[in-house]
Amino acid sequence: MNIVCIGSGYVGSVTGAAFATLGHRTVVLDIDATKVALINSGKSPIYEPGLDELISAYIGNTLFATTNYDAVREADVVFIGVGTPSKPDGTADLKYIKFAAQDIGKHMNPDKFTVIVNKSTVPVGTADLVASIIEESSNLRCNTHFAVVSNPEFLREGFALEDVFFPDRIVIGADNERAKSVMSQLYQGIVNAHNYEEKSADFYFEYKLGTKKPQYFETDIKSAEMIKYASNAFLAVKISYINEMARLSEVLGANIMDVATGMGLDSRIGNKFLQVSSGWSGSCFPKDTAELLATSRKYSCELSVIEASVTSNQRMHSFVVDKIKRKLQSLNGKTIGIFGLTFKPNTDDARNTQASFIIRELIEVGARVKVHDPQGMDMFKRLNPELDIDYCDNAGEAARQVDALLLLTHWDEYQELNWQQLLLSVRKPYILDTRNFLDHEHLRAIGFDCEGLGIGPHRSTERSGGIVAV
Ligand code: UDX
Repeated sequence: MNIVCIGSGYVGSVTGAAFATLGHRTVVLDIDATKVALINSGKSPIYEPGLDELISAYIGNTLFATTNYDAVREADVVFIGVGTPSKPDGTADLKYIKFAAQDIGKHMNPDKFTVIVNKSTVPVGTADLVASIIEESSNLRCNTHFAVVSNPEFLREGFALEDVFFPDRIVIGADNERAKSVMSQLYQGIVNAHNYEEKSADFYFEYKLGTKKPQYFETDIKSAEMIKYASNAFLAVKISYINEMARLSEVLGANIMDVATGMGLDSRIGNKFLQVSSGWSGSCFPKDTAELLATSRKYSCELSVIEASVTSNQRMHSFVVDKIKRKLQSLNGKTIGIFGLTFKPNTDDARNTQASFIIRELIEVGARVKVHDPQGMDMFKRLNPELDIDYCDNAGEAARQVDALLLLTHWDEYQELNWQQLLLSVRKPYILDTRNFLDHEHLRAIGFDCEGLGIGPHRSTERSGGIVAV
């Protein structure tokens, strides 16, 4: 098929590269000429493991990039994957969606049935808006010349390729039979996972090939739009929940690592998204919960669980700062070294991260802050220009002469650091590991005072519990 993906951010570039890999002639379209030039030179416009390799393998072959909307004329399917940032009131700003819809309408081929797919996370009802804008700018009729479909993305940054090729589910919201048939044909290659094994040379990932068959779920458009928000908000609630359990476990002397493992053995609960942290953040959960809450207010439909999850998450950021305050007492004039600025590892995404809240709170009480992140420092600096902090090229520098080390993001390289050497450069050997990720027993053995989250005093993160053969 001929595919156009509008937007070369996380959604557009990953989706485009995936369909090109499956053999579809795919054009990534962006108004930003710099990003387009980058893709055409075989490079990824975003940091995402494996994406550079995929783009360089398919560019000029089945993958193309352009700033020119003429590409829409040839398209069987046009994906809209542009940004939907939050407005100050929490609602999603749809201006980029509207621009894209207008431009699609202006360039659509009247002699060809085109399926327009909303892949960006958009409020319920946006498909109707897109359809009406296209009708106005093209003078063509929805469901005669074109159809609009909702196909939300569920990509996790850092695992986007795994999620695009091996998703749990593909959700298609469509009210038009012709569009449904185009979409099911398009997703054949992904749904029929056995194809991966035949083509495994092309896929080359370290991921296990052909082991997971995704569920292909068809529904109406509004339900599909809602599924995306309902899923992300649920995951945010799940993390807030385990973080609250961590706070209580810590006071009561239980170990949240064992609590989460024991809970996760119940298949109704599941073992994923029960990892304690200084709170969820990133480009999706804060934005999506804010939009859902803003919409619920407009329709007088209270979402108290989600509301509480957001408040609880903010409390989790403060809980981390309070823990350091308790340890160091006055933070005035103390230096804190921070490991990790991105909202999770394997991404350069430093938008709205835990670090930005926590660092602000630390500075407010007089602390000096030194930071390190393997990928996120440039973006963090750009987004937080007013923050007076020291950006360090390596973790060792961020640890020099600090009164406390605070691990916020669990990058593998922090586990592999020479901690013995770091011990010699810190002023005080205190580490707060907010992901319970480091080897606490080892750190204590070499002389660090190491704490995690949700673990009662004098307990290590090493699980005391385990599955036992009886
Ligand atoms: C999320 C959804 O998972 C994805 O399906 C959707 O399409 C986009 O939003 P993403 O924002 O990339 O993906 O990250 P995710 O892996 O979900 O993590 C979000 C935040 O929650 C991160 O800050 C992460 O560190 C935190 N988290 C996640 C926890 O604190 N504990 C967990 O157990 C899991």
